[in-house]
Amino acid sequence: MDSRPIGVFDSGIGGLTVLKALRERLPDETFLYLGDTARVPYGTKGVATIRRFALQAARYLESRGVKRLVVACNTASSHAIDLLRRECSVPVEGVVEPGVQAALEATRGHVGVIGTPATIASDRYGELLRQVRDDLRIENQHCPLFVPLAEEGWTDDAIALSVAERYLAGLRRLGVDTLILGCTHYPLLKGVISQVMGDEVVLVDSALVLAEAVARDLDEDDAHSPGPGQVKLIVSDMPQRFGEISRRFLDMDVGEVEVVDLELQAGSTPAGKENP
Ligand code: DGL
Repeated sequence: MDSRPIGVFDSGIGGLTVLKALRERLPDETFLYLGDTARVPYGTKGVATIRRFALQAARYLESRGVKRLVVACNTASSHAIDLLRRECSVPVEGVVEPGVQAALEATRGHVGVIGTPATIASDRYGELLRQVRDDLRIENQHCPLFVPLAEEGWTDDAIALSVAERYLAGLRRLGVDTLILGCTHYPLLKGVISQVMGDEVVLVDSALVLAEAVARDLDEDDAHSPGPGQVKLIVSDMPQRFGEISRRFLDMDVGEVEVVDLELQAGSTPAGKENP
């Protein structure tokens, strides 16, 4: 047994879709969720910046005594997972590998990947998919406007539908049979995405596969928490708004949201350590 918390981080609210799946699969665990709301979005930033932000978030959660780290952000997982695995003293799980696994199980040979500009530019999904099946046809499409739509709660109206149509019509025409939702915000727009792509296209949301992978890992190390499970939310800005959104989305009392200055925290780590 190991009662230490599991650290989960994302650039903002998107990772709550992952936290929800984790809580459902592992109700006895305590989760420390860090949303880097002062610096969201990550998906339109450069690689060095994304890596620096991800490392600062990971180091902060490590300093809070977590037993596992879940990178609930595709952009950070795409660009920084190897770095975090090298630098962190606890096991690190990201969202890309579980998404690849689920897509490989679902596809008949033609996969679409949607994500932030940074995730799509990394081609991390394509790389991992091709490592297993080099015969796959893979189409990439970035959908940056999906993030503010999800943040605003405009997920199932005519505006969301028309944005989805504009981004996804090309993928539909190309005939992909499986679509990876390669951004943790996108499951919030599943309804309109499915409406545009059609029922026959499988939408891959890596959260469920990821939760299963974390559960398996805790089994192997006999590291489950005895419970009771809790959620503690930490943000780098705007705690009140985050608390309201989280309460609604997780349908639970999330208590007070803590605020942390990640730049300040990074400044207090040994010199140079925050720069990948
Ligand atoms: N949560 C991020 C991701 O999954 C999207 C939001 C952002 O750009 O920071 O890539």
